[in-house]
Amino acid sequence: MSKHHLQLRINGRDVEGLVEPRTLLVHFIRETLGLTGTHIGCDTSHCGACTVDLDGKSVKSCTIFAVQAEGAEVTTIEGIAAPDGTLHALQEGFRAMHGLQCGYCTPGMIVRAYRLLQENPNPTEAEIRYGIAGNLCRCTGYQNIVRSIQYAAAKLNGVPYVEAAE
Ligand code: FES
Ligand code: FES
Repeated sequence: MSKHHLQLRINGRDVEGLVEPRTLLVHFIRETLGLTGTHIGCDTSHCGACTVDLDGKSVKSCTIFAVQAEGAEVTTIEGIAAPDGTLHALQEGFRAMHGLQCGYCTPGMIVRAYRLLQENPNPTEAEIRYGIAGNLCRCTGYQNIVRSIQYAAAKLNGVPYVEAAE
């Protein structure tokens, strides 16, 4: 099968590679680029474990072909922390608020929440729950995932995180 020469920018780095037309973006990211923080949980567009940020939108990378990302700007979980390794507020939030159990959904959740907080820097709990509706946590730790995102929103807004009354 003929291969396509793909170029894109990922986590601030220009990358290129040869891909078959049928190669999914998630496979290019994981297997060609070796960025295995992006997980595959279903391969059928349901779970969101493969979520990446593509040109300012959350995208399930098992849902698009690598060639569709030609020239795009992509951010994966490996690109969320600062270049010096300082954790992003979301990463800090997931750690502080115990937002993960097995951690399988976590990269996709964080990358999705990263875009959510850019679109809506001060979301309500309902808006967070709606915003992550495309990301499934098989450990069902949604309560702490929501708290983690609230923690990050507070930090990014420069205000103290106040736990909502149950
Ligand atoms: Fe892409 Fe589940 S692996 S949505
Ligand atoms: Fe296990 Fe979400 S922490 S799937």
